[in-house]
Amino acid sequence: MEKRNRNATIAWLVVSFAVFIVMIGLGITMRLAQGLRIEIPPNTFYALMTMHGLGMAGGLFAGALSIIWYIISRTCKVSLAVSWFSWVLFLIGAVALLYATLIGGFGPGWYALYPLPFINAAWPSWATGVAIIALLIMGVSWLLYQLDMLRAMAAQYGASRLLAWEYIAGKKPAEPLPAVILIASMCAIAGALGTLSGAVTLILYLLKWISPGVSLDALLLKNTMFMFGHVIVNVCIYCGLCAVYHLMPKYSGRPWGVNRITAIAWNATLFFVLFAYFHHLYMDFAQNKALHIIGQITSYGSAIPATAVSLFGIASQVYKSGMKWRFTPTAFVLGGMGWAIGGVAAVVDSTIMVNSYFHNTLWVPAHFHTYFLVGYIFMFFGFLHDFFNSKAERFAISSFVGMLVGGYGFLSMFYLGGYYGVPRRYAAYTAIQVGDIANKGALFASLGALFAAVFLLSAIAFAISLFAGRSKATAEAVATT
Ligand code: HEM
Repeated sequence: MEKRNRNATIAWLVVSFAVFIVMIGLGITMRLAQGLRIEIPPNTFYALMTMHGLGMAGGLFAGALSIIWYIISRTCKVSLAVSWFSWVLFLIGAVALLYATLIGGFGPGWYALYPLPFINAAWPSWATGVAIIALLIMGVSWLLYQLDMLRAMAAQYGASRLLAWEYIAGKKPAEPLPAVILIASMCAIAGALGTLSGAVTLILYLLKWISPGVSLDALLLKNTMFMFGHVIVNVCIYCGLCAVYHLMPKYSGRPWGVNRITAIAWNATLFFVLFAYFHHLYMDFAQNKALHIIGQITSYGSAIPATAVSLFGIASQVYKSGMKWRFTPTAFVLGGMGWAIGGVAAVVDSTIMVNSYFHNTLWVPAHFHTYFLVGYIFMFFGFLHDFFNSKAERFAISSFVGMLVGGYGFLSMFYLGGYYGVPRRYAAYTAIQVGDIANKGALFASLGALFAAVFLLSAIAFAISLFAGRSKATAEAVATT
């Protein structure tokens, strides 16, 4: 069973990694176009941007779910059939989305703000339909996968124990709850609710596509779409943290269990993450003012508890443990750092007064690229290195240096753009009336493309290190027998 679970996980991980690499290619193309190094028509730029945003978020989320699936499969009876079925659905959805964007030109951005895809769209109507159906298929895949995980964990530990409420009540359970079960449950509950919100939105979009006469509430759909997007990207990072909680003790030799503080922090995060998305709607004057205020409070509430307990936990795993700085723990520690840096930038942006300056500048992609590229991705790679039992430590660490230089260099260019007020989602900065901002935007974009290329090559080198490390591990095993 262990081998079959591994194979099912490998299928997800390989797809997630491959999507990540291809999407970086699209990202570099966009940065080169913004830097005036290549010329692409605006419609193509927006189709690439839509595919890049959805592909990155969706592909990484799928891989992240497979990480928690694999971790819980060691103690819970998860369904292999559901995993494979969800995988096939995900692949069908991904290929259909590629077709709708790259061939059909579907390009309203990842959240396809209603009624944008339906009014004077620059792409054919069939591309809108295929994109909606593709996203719905992917949503069903994630929902099935997450619900099966919740079922398996509830069957093993009891549904009432999954969120560690007994610890909050101050009781000492006879059988301790593993920290990874608490985090995986939190991820699957929030992820399933977020996915459901996306599914409802997309079903309404489908209705509108089939019957163009239907009129929908634009503000309501913006809320449900952002709840979906905000929740799944955050859950993706929490899944990465689940890998950190699971594997750090192996390297530090110290246990990492649940206590009252951890239980309160993760429960608070589960509650707050569902409402923090209101901070995406600060500019929507039609939205009730109270929701803006709730957005600011819950943004702080969702960011601080999980970050505080996890970073403190990582520090206490490392401090004077005598741990060897192998690739996996190093990637976890630096991934935690990237997550925190991106988190601070996000909290800054979720502050209403600051948001009125930074909104729709490159500061926004700067912060979410930070906690993904040098946060979650490092946790993901740390997990991959351990999962494949790679022995190519030096090779992996050298590729990591390249990813650090390329990653932080690329991100700095987004932050500088944000600081100088360069707007986000511009196919060509030449359209900006203020010459100084247009020139700065193009310069930062060219340098950003260069750094991103360094990241891309280093990520490919990391993938090669996994193969090299496996051959080395096999050779060592043969030599010792
Ligand atoms: C080196 C890797 C990457 C490169 C070169 C890159 C590049 C870009 C560029 C140029 C944009 C458009 C920025 C603008 O608004 O002007 C963008 C947007 C975006 N990127 Fe990335 N990116 C990378 C990694 C990632 C990762 C890891 C994620 C993970 C979620 C991601 C998700 C997104 C999303 C969601 C958008 C917004 C799309 C939209 O507005 O519809 N990117 N990226």
